Amino acid sequence: MAVQMKRIQKDIESINAFNASPGSGITRQTFSKEYQGAAAYVLDELKKIGAEISIGLGGNIRGRIPGSVAGGPAIMTGSHLDTVAHGGPFDGVAGVAAALEAARCLVEDRTPHRLPVDVVVFAEEEGSRFGRALLGSSIWTGKIAPDLLHLIADANGVNYAKAMAQAGLSIDDDCPLRSAGLKAMLEVHVEQGAVLEKKGCRIGVVEAIAGIRQFDVTIRGKANHAGATPMPDRLDALQTAARIIVAIDEMAVGSPNTVATVGRIGCEPDQINIIPGVVRFSLDVRDSDKSRLETATAGICRNIAEMCADRGVTCEIGELTHVEPVVLNDGIIQLLEKKTREKNAAPLRMISGAGHDAALVAALTPTGLIFVPSREGLSHCPEEFTRIEDVALGCDILLAAIVELAQ
Ligand code: HGY
Ligand code: MN
Ligand code: MN
Repeated sequence: MAVQMKRIQKDIESINAFNASPGSGITRQTFSKEYQGAAAYVLDELKKIGAEISIGLGGNIRGRIPGSVAGGPAIMTGSHLDTVAHGGPFDGVAGVAAALEAARCLVEDRTPHRLPVDVVVFAEEEGSRFGRALLGSSIWTGKIAPDLLHLIADANGVNYAKAMAQAGLSIDDDCPLRSAGLKAMLEVHVEQGAVLEKKGCRIGVVEAIAGIRQFDVTIRGKANHAGATPMPDRLDALQTAARIIVAIDEMAVGSPNTVATVGRIGCEPDQINIIPGVVRFSLDVRDSDKSRLETATAGICRNIAEMCADRGVTCEIGELTHVEPVVLNDGIIQLLEKKTREKNAAPLRMISGAGHDAALVAALTPTGLIFVPSREGLSHCPEEFTRIEDVALGCDILLAAIVELAQ
């Protein structure tokens, strides 16, 4: 039986009913009450098909559909339920819904499969609550030590481990993911760019995922009186930060595949008649090529230090996220292309500028990422939209690939 588009639609709507910003996009922070509601929905749906539920390191959810051979390496599929602030209804959710529906079909059709199939939900993919992207998958894959979760806290000082406990999620499988336990991992995700739409393609097969470097930058000058301090005597943190931020944009434009973003900025004391003493801003640098990424990041950080020195202020640059670019497995890419053609669609090989949990799991097992089109390439905003027909096609291809891999 083919996947049922109506069930996918219902999953996406039911998950997004748990939203902290109704009427202004989707906001669902990891372990928040909205997240708990969405996770409970997914867990209920997994229990309905007899999945064996476990909570892994980092609060990641796993629902296992056992294969005919006990304990074989699993085929993993899933995505994330947490969102950016005022984001869209498909980022992450489309991949969870596709994984859920593929698992339903596998069970309902009693499709024979030797290996277990794991439906997973990765926690804190966006980094919106705890400030580090891909945090749940970084813990689960052993890239970040679990005891750090007692130190990584949200804006209210609640650490990750405590927030997880408050959400009623207690770890019952504290083993990190291992290559031996996995045969493959597949994720369906909205493209979040406009390449598929522009080329009139419905399915993207991702060849490589860009690497990410994220930082907190603090510029320290001297707060002083806005009226009584002559211009030459000022150590204005905001004037320096402004020049640095413009330079970041100019440096990124100069490197064709690199992107750099300052998405967040704060100023202290943040008062109309005080020269800003401290400015904090975020820096996000990405590239699919490691050496270009390193060169761009080093150049930007060097320029920050030089501009601060020139203007007599100081800076601190703290690294938050460090994920390498990854080239995905060619065998999986060819399998996804084959399954796409069998569904009478034309696969388009492409690179992902967005980060994904698949990039972390790819270090352990052959991994594939199936993209479906984003209307006008919009994402991380309320206007994010993907046709449910395209999510269903992505799910169909996912199911076909899982069935072949799980034999
Ligand atoms: O930031 C990203 O690329 C992803 O949406 N977390
Ligand atoms: Mn995202
Ligand atoms: Mn995502």
